[in-house]
Amino acid sequence: MVESSILLNDPFKLLIKDHDNVRELFNNFKSISSQQQKILIIEQFIKEICIHSSIEERFVYPLITSKIRDSGAKMISDRNYLDHQQAKEVLQYFIDHMHSTLTLNQNEQLLFNKTVEKFIMDLLDHMSEEEQFVFPKLTSLMTQQEMSELYSDLVRGKENAPTLPHPKAPMKMGTKLLHPITGAMDKLMHGGKEEETRVSSTTHENVNM
Ligand SMILES: [Fe+2]
Repeated sequence: MVESSILLNDPFKLLIKDHDNVRELFNNFKSISSQQQKILIIEQFIKEICIHSSIEERFVYPLITSKIRDSGAKMISDRNYLDHQQAKEVLQYFIDHMHSTLTLNQNEQLLFNKTVEKFIMDLLDHMSEEEQFVFPKLTSLMTQQEMSELYSDLVRGKENAPTLPHPKAPMKMGTKLLHPITGAMDKLMHGGKEEETRVSSTTHENVNM
């Protein structure tokens, strides 16, 4: 509720706020030295990025080709979908390998963390491009009514979005139907996992007390 009044129903401010949250997690990842803590941060940004990617794919990216009528629109659209596809594949790689880094030596952990930092650089670039070129262009082409409807779609979409990458899932056709179903399945998995993480971190805190 507070968020909507701060953002004045501007869908692109909502997306930029998501970007800022992810940037903060990236900074945390880089500033923390504990591998265990880095893994917890990776888990957090995977969830944030997956939710954000879903609402862009369902509600924002289709607008690039429907609203921008110049010859560059398809290239901009393709470029954004490609960035998301690559990001999802890398995020899935992190899910598959990050926990095993705890058993690696320091040099090997460093290599894995460099892979994460390369991903971070690529995604920062993607987010900046959206903020500099895509969002202002769409804003200039949309009515206040369309902006308000998009804002509502994004807010609702965040509630039922997938929280895991699913790199093999389609990003264009059928996403409005498929993403809420996948999101419900992910919540079942994440719900248990978050509880497990909470319990294990509580145990860890107790051990350290
Ligand atoms: Fe974005």
